[in-house]
Amino acid sequence: MRDLLDRIATTARPHAAQGKVASYIPALAEADPDAFALALVTADGEEFSTGQAAQPFSIQSISKLFALALGMEWLGEDLWERVGREPSGMRFNSLIQLETERGRPRNPFINAGAIVTTDALLHARSDYAEALLAELRLLSGNPDIQRDADVHRSEIETGDLNRAMAYVLKAHGNLRCDPMAATEAYFGACAIAMSALDLARAAMFLVTPQTGDAACHAGNNAQRLRAIMRTCGLYDQSGEFAFSVGLPGKSGVGGGVLVVQPNSFAACAWSPPLDRFGNSVAGQVALEELAKHLC
Ligand code: DON
Repeated sequence: MRDLLDRIATTARPHAAQGKVASYIPALAEADPDAFALALVTADGEEFSTGQAAQPFSIQSISKLFALALGMEWLGEDLWERVGREPSGMRFNSLIQLETERGRPRNPFINAGAIVTTDALLHARSDYAEALLAELRLLSGNPDIQRDADVHRSEIETGDLNRAMAYVLKAHGNLRCDPMAATEAYFGACAIAMSALDLARAAMFLVTPQTGDAACHAGNNAQRLRAIMRTCGLYDQSGEFAFSVGLPGKSGVGGGVLVVQPNSFAACAWSPPLDRFGNSVAGQVALEELAKHLC
């Protein structure tokens, strides 16, 4: 397995040159474009990795997966009154669709949908931000997971489009908390830093859902979470990713892409340069190669 991951890294890494590191959040522009990691955890607990698999990076929208898991757990069916579960076919931060669809976001993985989910969680529990961190520490087994303060500050300084979305949501009666508080909590989740290995370990509740006692494990949401990952996890590139990789996944503009194969493995690839959809170029290549060999 280790040899396989090394060979995949050799194949995937050169593709990073076709992408660009995210710069619309200035702190993300400092990421090393040559960084690369691929980590895999199997259903029977074996772990394999190549590259900088223990180096924390900004998880960005991968946080939306864990926020949704908590949202489904804490809020049950009520959450779906406020957010849909259809692919958006639009950029992850598009305002147009939110306005034309009268403030009901298409799904919880576009920014507007994640802001609604965050708002619902924050309304349910004012300590949501700390509860999410605690959940990620528990799921990954890493008590040192933190928010990256520079990325958090940078998101707050440049997050006007997200704040605009929060105010549109409020205008349509789909926000309970103050828009500034909801976006602040959303930025905090995106600014969490984890390694590829942390993320693969944390996603194991979607591989062997019957194990463990973290809040995300309770209930029977794994199948539904995987369904939303499959249809919406890579934004308006989700269809292409399903075609080439064929696994439920979730990406973030920090360059991480997390996938799961039920009863088999969780894997996370990391390479900061992104394509025009905001997804890691080399990360997708690595996971396509991995799926060819393991699925
Ligand atoms: O709100 C934003 O734009 C970022 N904090 C997160 C976006 C993101 O990761 C989209 N992913 N591909």
